Amino acid sequence: MQSCCRLICRTTIKGNSNKLLKQLEARMLASGPITVADYMKEVLTNPSAGYYMNRDVFGEKGDFITSPEISQMFGELIAIWLINEWAKCGRPTPFQLVELGPGRGTLMSDVLRVFSKLKINEPDFSVNLVEVSPYLSNVQEKCLCKTVNKKISELPEDSQHYKESESLYGSPVRWYNNISDVPRTFTLFLAHEFFDALPIHKLVKVDQGWREVLIDLNREDSTLRYVLSRERTPASLYCRGKEVRKDLEISPQSLVTIQVMAARIHQDGGVGLVIDYGHEGDKTDTFRGFKNHKLHDPLIEPGTADLTADVDFSALKWAATHPSTTEDWKANLTYGTVDQKDFLTRMGINMRLEKLLASCRNEKLATDLKSAHRMLTDPMEMGSKFKFLALYPAVMEKILLKYPPPGFS
Ligand SMILES: C[S@@+](CC[C@H](N)C(=O)[O-])C[C@H]1O[C@@H](n2cnc3c(N)ncnc32)[C@H](O)[C@@H]1O
Repeated sequence: MQSCCRLICRTTIKGNSNKLLKQLEARMLASGPITVADYMKEVLTNPSAGYYMNRDVFGEKGDFITSPEISQMFGELIAIWLINEWAKCGRPTPFQLVELGPGRGTLMSDVLRVFSKLKINEPDFSVNLVEVSPYLSNVQEKCLCKTVNKKISELPEDSQHYKESESLYGSPVRWYNNISDVPRTFTLFLAHEFFDALPIHKLVKVDQGWREVLIDLNREDSTLRYVLSRERTPASLYCRGKEVRKDLEISPQSLVTIQVMAARIHQDGGVGLVIDYGHEGDKTDTFRGFKNHKLHDPLIEPGTADLTADVDFSALKWAATHPSTTEDWKANLTYGTVDQKDFLTRMGINMRLEKLLASCRNEKLATDLKSAHRMLTDPMEMGSKFKFLALYPAVMEKILLKYPPPGFS
């Protein structure tokens, strides 16, 4: 395989004491270069040494901070949005909240507090979390639940979830590895900074057509480097005639995931809210690493830094509205994307800030609240970088014309 690739860039690794690097090295020595998607999957979710699998990576002491970790205002406004849309659908029961990639559980905790305050405590309501990291699922359990509950060994053998417990407000909480394993019923889907963590393939247009960027081991000094495939690869078949960019990032796993969400919304009823940094199909080279809140070379010390790529929202919208002919669901409706600043402002973040400030007796807290508000909404901070996308079933078209999704216009 090595000879079928051209070197396009190289990176030096200081020593190879890194456990994940050793595994990757063995794999590349045995079978040659791997795709960026395979590399990203291994680096983030390898069961023994993946970045997310055995540590808390969030907050000041971690590598990055997310909107729900900045202020309770974020999750509270999302809770109001979800309740509003559930009510618009006629308050169906049973119903469930499904969050993809819940991190520390902070967003879900803020959402559940608002649900409880507004007396949304239907007996048929459940919380289902799609989380691949056993470590983070424990952090989420401590954040959301009364007690640390049933272990995997105590669950029935045919159980789709790997853990279950009870929320502080009495609803069942269950953890799944995959969105397809979640039970089927009316669902409010939530995905904040989830899709940017899903693997991408990188492609480059050369004279002979599309070629894939692969990651290879330089045997002389055990460094990782980017190489270009000489032949077409399965991912390169995704690129069709109309594409004007010469560099592409595509994420088939993201498209499959949004299609599962779209199919569920069509077949069982529900609404989806996807929030992430991203673009409308016009960006090229966004694959990068983050460590200690700074950009980090993705090929250095794999497993010690977050790897991410901007979400292609135009591709997500296309997938959510184009079921394959063999599938039993029809095109859903999508709204957005809109910038975080616009969504939060329309949902009333300024009023919420005033309310919190009015009950705040501590000057430091008041300053923190104002600075959190600025970070979430300032276009130079997170205000325009983060985008909101909503998904609805096609049957809601008329209702949505009369009562459009809040936050989107
Ligand atoms: C960037 S963090 C976002 C956390 C949280 N939503 C927040 O905003 O604070 C990504 C989350 O997705 C989880 N994750 C990453 N890849 C996953 C996958 N393939 N399946 C399920 N969860 C995944 C991570 O463990 C983590 O909880």
